[in-house]
Amino acid sequence: MTTNRTAVVTGASSGIGAATARALAADGFDVVIGARRVDRLEELAAEIGATALQLDVTDEDSVAAFTAVIPRVDVLVNNAGGAKGVASVADADLDDWRWMWETNVLGTLRITKALLPKLIESGNGLIVTITSIAALVSYDNGAGYTSAKHAQALLHRTLRGELLGKPVRLTEIAPGAVETEFSLVRFDGDEDKAAAVYRGIDPLVASDIAEIVSFAASRPSHVNLDQIVVQPRDQAGAGRFNRRS
Ligand SMILES: NC(=O)c1ccc[n+]([C@@H]2O[C@H](COP(=O)([O-])OP(=O)(O)OC[C@H]3O[C@@H](n4cnc5c(N)ncnc54)[C@H](OP(=O)(O)O)[C@@H]3O)[C@@H](O)[C@H]2O)c1
Repeated sequence: MTTNRTAVVTGASSGIGAATARALAADGFDVVIGARRVDRLEELAAEIGATALQLDVTDEDSVAAFTAVIPRVDVLVNNAGGAKGVASVADADLDDWRWMWETNVLGTLRITKALLPKLIESGNGLIVTITSIAALVSYDNGAGYTSAKHAQALLHRTLRGELLGKPVRLTEIAPGAVETEFSLVRFDGDEDKAAAVYRGIDPLVASDIAEIVSFAASRPSHVNLDQIVVQPRDQAGAGRFNRRS
């Protein structure tokens, strides 16, 4: 059995999760990566020496199977998530809302609840949750995503108090615009709409967030980085960009 520290990264088949798995593997963690697209996970696992496991955070059985085979957890990165659609409340698509709440909120709850005993048992656990600036503000046509990210963030922030006295730290990272597959998913595969989100700005890239996770995980055990808000220099809040073209 391994005595190495183990990091679990959800949603590691692309974007921030994949970059975080790379960074934590480079830091010397045994990394366990989960997502629905197993082919992608296996490619990444072969590259960085990680363990790839199928995971659908919206499915109780999948979460149970995923968490049951991980013997030890020192770091959990709750990253699986995303947005579907841009619609006013008046025009809200209930299925899109369900997807966002199931993935971001209940997905984070399922995984965190299942791995909490192992994080405590590690003696020096860390839970990093990737929320968003959408967890801090509201914006028009975004209530499905902003409400889900607020709820995910409150789950995470509540644990900070509930775990006081237990050897588990909690770090929330709330990014602005990061160029990943996020917008492609949000706009249902429409590449033009997705590209327009990042037009004329220098967005963050996935490794920018991964480096912050790596930094948080490498602080001494008495240091808890509670909340980190990070945006591109070209962004000053949701929907407010300096676009040069
Ligand atoms: N990009 C941004 O601008 C931005 C800004 C703030 C916050 N965030 C947050 O950052 C996190 C990562 O997003 P990203 O930007 O890296 O987007 P991404 O490239 O679309 O990655 C999303 C990841 O989540 C996984 N995922 C989605 N549904 C899942 C499910 N049911 N079970 C397991 N995994 C699932 C996807 O894998 P599979 O499809 O293979 O399952 C994928 O690996 C999300 O929580 C997002 O809300 C992103």
